[in-house]
Parts: sequence; C-alpha cells; structure tokens
Amino acid sequence: MSGSLPGVIVDDPHWWRQAVVYQVYPRSFSDSDGDGLGDVQGIISRIPYLRELGVDAVWLCPFYPSALADGGYDVDDYRNVDPRLGSLDDFDEMVGALHEAGLKIFVDLVPNHSSDRHEWFRAALAADPGSSERDRYIFRDGLGDSGELPPNDWPSHFAPSAWTRTTKADGSPGQWYLHLFAPEQPDFNWDNDEVNNDFLFTLRFWSDRGVDGFRVDVAHGLKKDLSEPYKPVPSIGVMEDLPTDGSHPLFDRDEVHEVYRAWRSVFNEYSPPRVAVAEAGVLAERRAQYATADELGQAFNFDLLQTRWDAQAFRETITRCLDVAEGSSSSSTWTLSNHDVVRHASRYGLPDGTDLEAWLLSGGTHPAVDIEQGARRARAAAMLLLALPGSVYLYQGEELGLLEVADLPAEALQDPIWLRDNGARKGRDGCRIPLPWNSELPSLGFTIGTPHLPIPAWFSNYAVDAQDGVEGSTLELYRAALRTRRQLQSTETLTWHEHPDDVVWFSRDNGWNSFTNFGTEPVVRPAGAELLCSVPLHTGDVPGESTVWFRG
Ligand code: GLC
Repeated sequence: MSGSLPGVIVDDPHWWRQAVVYQVYPRSFSDSDGDGLGDVQGIISRIPYLRELGVDAVWLCPFYPSALADGGYDVDDYRNVDPRLGSLDDFDEMVGALHEAGLKIFVDLVPNHSSDRHEWFRAALAADPGSSERDRYIFRDGLGDSGELPPNDWPSHFAPSAWTRTTKADGSPGQWYLHLFAPEQPDFNWDNDEVNNDFLFTLRFWSDRGVDGFRVDVAHGLKKDLSEPYKPVPSIGVMEDLPTDGSHPLFDRDEVHEVYRAWRSVFNEYSPPRVAVAEAGVLAERRAQYATADELGQAFNFDLLQTRWDAQAFRETITRCLDVAEGSSSSSTWTLSNHDVVRHASRYGLPDGTDLEAWLLSGGTHPAVDIEQGARRARAAAMLLLALPGSVYLYQGEELGLLEVADLPAEALQDPIWLRDNGARKGRDGCRIPLPWNSELPSLGFTIGTPHLPIPAWFSNYAVDAQDGVEGSTLELYRAALRTRRQLQSTETLTWHEHPDDVVWFSRDNGWNSFTNFGTEPVVRPAGAELLCSVPLHTGDVPGESTVWFRG
C-alpha cells in the first residue's frame, strides 16, 4: 500500500477543513499482544481497514503512560507512550504507516490537568507550601481552625468537591489542591511560565514526530480566577449555566486565548502548519474565538449530537453551527458520538427526551431501545452529516452500527463517574467496549487475552467480518458514503431547499443533494440520479427515517 488516496492533497494547509476524522480510543481498538488493552501495534495492523473505510485522518485518544483513573485522561508523562500500549518507536512506526496510507494523525492533548503520578505533581507534594514546585499546580490552605475544610465549595465533574487535601510526609494533613475532574487529575496553574513552556515543548515534541494535529481536551478550562473572595460556582459541566462574558471563575475565561495564540505560533513553525481542534464546552457565541486562525483553528461542537430527531431542529442547529464557524473563518465540525456519550444508534432508538443517566442505570431496559428505529435513524443521520460542509468526526464502531452496552455489571465499570459518584451515574464505559473484528474468534478478534472491558456475545452480529462485503451492512454504507463524499466534496457552501414534509434537504454546489426524511412515511423524491440511500434495496420514494443522496 503506498501513495495517498485520491482527493487528498498531502501538503494542502487546509486539508483539515473538510476532513473525515476517525476517533480511535486506543485501549479498546485492537490488541496485538494479548494483555487485553488495545495498543499501537494493534492500530498499525488495522490501517488497511481505516484506509478502506475511506477516512482522511485518525484522532488518537490519550495513549500516554497513565494509571487509567480516567481512561488515560490522567497523563503521567506527556512525551511518552504507555508501555502497555507500545513505545515511542512503535508510535513513530504508526505515524509513518498512517502517512504512507494517506492518513493524517491528531493526538489528544490534555493541558488542564496531569495525573497525580506526573513527576511535577509528585515533586509538588514533596515540596513545601509556597514552593515553585507547588506553583505549577493549584494548592491552597484549607479553612477552619486547622485547615480541615476545603478552601471553597467548588464542585468537580467526578467528585463532590474540586479540592482534595494532601498528606504531609509525617502523615499529618496538609494543603488542598484543585481538580476539576477526579482527585487523580490535579489542575495545572496556567499562570505559571514553566507550565506554559512545557506544553510548547510538548507540542513541538509530537509535531517533530510528524503528528499533524492536536485535539485539545477541556480547552476552555485552563485559566482560572482564584482571587479571593472566591466567586461562586453553582454547577459544573452545564454549558447553559456559563456566562457569555468570560466571567466564570473556572471556564471560558478570556485569558485562555493568550495560551492558544502562543500555541499557534508553534503550529505555524511547521509546514503545513499543525492544526488543532478545541474541545470547548462553551455556548455557540463563545466557540468561534477558540477556532480562529490565530488560535486553535477549529472547535468541536456537540450541537447535532444533542439535537432531537426532528427536521426543523436539525435545520436550525446546522444553520447555527455554520454561522459560528463562519464567524471564525473556520469550518464547522460535526459529530454524533464520541467516548463520552451514549452511542447514537442507541440514543436514536429511545423516545425523545429519555433521561440517559436513568436509562443507563436501568441497565438499558427502561425504556427499551427500538433497535430497528435506532439503526435506521443512525444511518440516515450519518449520511446527512457526511454531506455537510466541514469536517466530520466519527467515533470508532459507529461505522459498524454499534449500540451502547448498557448492562455492564457494576464490577466491570471503570469510569470515575461511576466510581466517584457512588453509583448515582453509570458513566461512559458502555460506549468504550472493545471493537468486534471477527465474529468467529475469541473476544471477537480484539485480543487473544481477556479484554479490559467485557465484550457482549451479541457484538458478533456487528463484527467487521460479518459486515465486510455484505450489501446493505452499515460498514458498507459508511464505505460507500465516504467514497461518494470524497468524489463530490468541493467548496464549503450549502444551499437549503424548501420541502413541505418532514424533510431536511440541501445541496452542495456541484449538484450533490442530501435529502433526509425524518418522518416515518415515504416521501416522493425530487428528480435526479440517486447516488446512495441509507436504506438498502428500496425503490422509488424516500423511505421513512432515511437519507438519499442524489445528483440534481
Ligand atoms: C474530556 C474528555 C473526557 C475526560 C475529561 C477530563 O471531556 O473527553 O473523556 O474525562 O475531558 O480529561
């Protein structure tokens, strides 16, 4: 296998604007050595699969040394590979092989917090209050007579309090440190120059190794207002509660943009410039700033992922996202699933408004998933997304139509959301189950050992070999859609077409029409040669809950 795929101009600095990026959650992708954790050689062995699927790039979730307190988002060493996943040599081999196959690579960068095993955090714990070691993180004295109370009542995403108390070498209690996520994820102090410089070093470290882009974790969290008296934080992780003037003490502060302007100058040292996409959980009007050309260049939006199955709602969301992207001269991103949310084939099989936390806690039984409906809608939505201008981020396994595994037994769960929230929320393990590669093999070909999360037997129906070459399979639909997209993709324009029914219909400037029927009854399709339909083997009209692409 050599050379690049047709349509990919290797050194085009704008390659990312309409790229299809495939998210790999490495520990659940493919295991080469039988330890039950996916690894870098496993990824290398599946590059032919990715190439045949037809994606443009791969985004690798964290693969760094980690105790896995939060699925790898607790990083011990930003410039290394978890020895269970491979070595830096393996990493270099992977980058070379991806590039050889015409694929770009994004790595996940986690700048808001390290792990508590990071050498800087260990040094901070060993050092005294007020030391330069402690200044790289956020340490404060506690309140109360002997500092027994946390400095304030700020909540964390994964634990009740955002503060954890340290223990001194003599065993007595010490200062408190801030963590917006698990206690194993202490937040960096981004007002500290060493922290800033170290991340610039890390950006160069991976860029020098040929990495093309960075996905920036919790991009809106780095800068904090720690001035006293502390400002109130009534909720955490509720985007709608964020003010739009940058006044929240923990998220989306205006100062964070200084950090990304410095990163941009590093990206631009390379040719083509390295690119980045912000995971910034902020309201639409604040998103554009992260995505400007002098900052990260692009920002995720999870708006379609949160949009109910409704033509009008989809149209409004798409219009808003395109406007936001235009506001930063970037392209929009689109996504339906990722490693943090219930897989969309399951979501679309549930009644509108289902409380997903409660559904997960019920083991996926209340309410029951309408699997047929979920699959129909998921296929239709994927085609709709893939016809939009901008870049699409696919999550591993969605091309197989995988469902959420909602009935994982408590003892199998790993997510800190479950572990720290005393079972009040089940967490995200159900969308992180290892991929089924081969329906005949033990562990469905993911590993010859014991997979780190149990793989249900019914996953065999979704295995790659069960779909490969099978007309009408979800895998073949994705392959055909990506092939067609590659041929038809052109400028980033979209024209809406009116339709009286429950339909979202738009075209691109070369006559590529995408027509989604959100209703359940068939709808007559406007004239034009059909290119692809999300429902196999249909004739004539556009079936209910389906997307048709046609040339008109
Ligand atoms: C991001 C990641 C999520 C992780 C969190 C903390 O939201 O997507 O998986 O738990 O950041 O790093």
